[in-house]
Amino acid sequence: VERNDALDHLRNRQAPIELSPEAFRTLAHQLVDHLAGFLVALPDRQPSMPKSPSELRALLPDGLPAEGTDVDSLLRGTLSLLEDHQIFNGHPGFMAYITAPASPVGMLADFIVSTLNPNVGLWGLSPIATEIELQTAAWIAELIGYPSTAGVMSSGGQVANFIGLLVGRQTKTPWNIHTEGIAGGDGQRLRVYSTREAHNWLRMAVDLFGLGLHAIHWIDTRDDLTMDCGHLEQAIAEDKQHGDHPLLVIGTAGSVGTGAIDPLPEIAQICRRHDLWFHVDGAYGALAAALPDAPPALLGLREADSVAVDPHKWLYAPIDAGCTLVRDVDKLTAAFGQGTQPSYYVLGSDESARPLNLFAIGPENSRRFRAFKVWLQLQVAGRDGYCRMIADDIALAQELHRLIGTYDQLEPRTLGLSIVTFRYVPTDLRANAADYLDYLNRLNQAILARLQVSGTVYLSNSSVGGAFMLRSCIVNFRTTLIQIEALPPLVVEIGNELDRELRPSRGGDEATVAGGAGTSLAP
Ligand SMILES: Cc1ncc(COP(=O)(O)O)c(C=O)c1O
Repeated sequence: VERNDALDHLRNRQAPIELSPEAFRTLAHQLVDHLAGFLVALPDRQPSMPKSPSELRALLPDGLPAEGTDVDSLLRGTLSLLEDHQIFNGHPGFMAYITAPASPVGMLADFIVSTLNPNVGLWGLSPIATEIELQTAAWIAELIGYPSTAGVMSSGGQVANFIGLLVGRQTKTPWNIHTEGIAGGDGQRLRVYSTREAHNWLRMAVDLFGLGLHAIHWIDTRDDLTMDCGHLEQAIAEDKQHGDHPLLVIGTAGSVGTGAIDPLPEIAQICRRHDLWFHVDGAYGALAAALPDAPPALLGLREADSVAVDPHKWLYAPIDAGCTLVRDVDKLTAAFGQGTQPSYYVLGSDESARPLNLFAIGPENSRRFRAFKVWLQLQVAGRDGYCRMIADDIALAQELHRLIGTYDQLEPRTLGLSIVTFRYVPTDLRANAADYLDYLNRLNQAILARLQVSGTVYLSNSSVGGAFMLRSCIVNFRTTLIQIEALPPLVVEIGNELDRELRPSRGGDEATVAGGAGTSLAP
């Protein structure tokens, strides 16, 4: 009897995670209606609603429930939990970090992907998804004029850069690194070259992948925070003299701090001369190479051996989506395919080519179909649509930079692609701002904190020459001139307020203040 009951249970199995088709349909319709309403109301919400970690933890369920919960009420409660405590990168006033709003078509794509759930590691499990991913990477390459038809998607710019560095390391190490590992070269140190403007992924990569932090030979920057190629040449020569092995140069196409673009064409020449791998971190700026008036320094990315691009930045894909493009596809397959990939897997447009398993050209095995949203978006907006959106973001940044320059209390510092850095400097300190660096750093830090809860715009910060800078980065197709025009007067208002709070003596004898005597302003 017991056995029959158990078999009956398995025959009429009711999985607690399953939803009836009717329940799924009803919930999904309700959800779409709710989310459409959320998008309509988004511009009227605050971009951020600050709470402390402990306040947030107190809002979460007490413990793992033993029994299941009704999905309808669970979703309702969870939606408000998220919406009431989220920093909205889809808000028109969000101009922080390098984080874009998700495109609505990308949202729909993610729903489709989760429903069909392809595992894009093995061609045999996801034939059409694999082919779409390959086409997506080829389209991204085409968009920026990069001469390759192959690439691999990943979770974001950091991992896309990891992949570029790994392919370069596997290709250019002078011994067989696949079998001998990093220690195979009689103590010869492998060296990589970059400026300190590089994103933190580089430090993490050399640490994780066995090169060690001392493998980085930091190259000086010029006044505009871009790589000094004279110093690069000198560094390579020095390292060779010491018996080290120069491996790879990382050029940045739009730095995370200021949007600075390294002189990529010159770096390409140096890499060719010294037989080094040339990797470009274009996580932020590579997509600006699609513009007809892209700066020549940026177009040098077309000469790179590998380029990291981040579709969840300037292609406005929902997170996550990164992409590594590699000029020579064989290098990609050779780097990741050792031990896992039979030699007959080849990339190419040849109809007779065997299928490509994406697990064999990157670090992931089971893989989400990230390409789908990007593939749809590229078709919805088209090349021209993307050029217009990226150009508009840049034009808004240029206008912001100009407007900032019209205020006595604001000091515009850098403008690179769509990133503007600036700071508030009280007019009485302007003439000797350098003497008051500590105070100005504290003041601008306080301004940023207050700005972030102002309810209209959300910026982040950067450091330029030791100065704390307010930083606006527009990779936001919802930002308009309205937010741009509102920003400078708001910063001035908050700056005036905070300067009065932090310097009670302000408004008194200007000479005393400027001299710093008896105030907290000591340089
Ligand atoms: C230049 C650059 N490289 C790499 C990254 C890392 O990208 P992700 O956060 O998508 O991993 C960023 C992120 O802002 C970046 O700006």
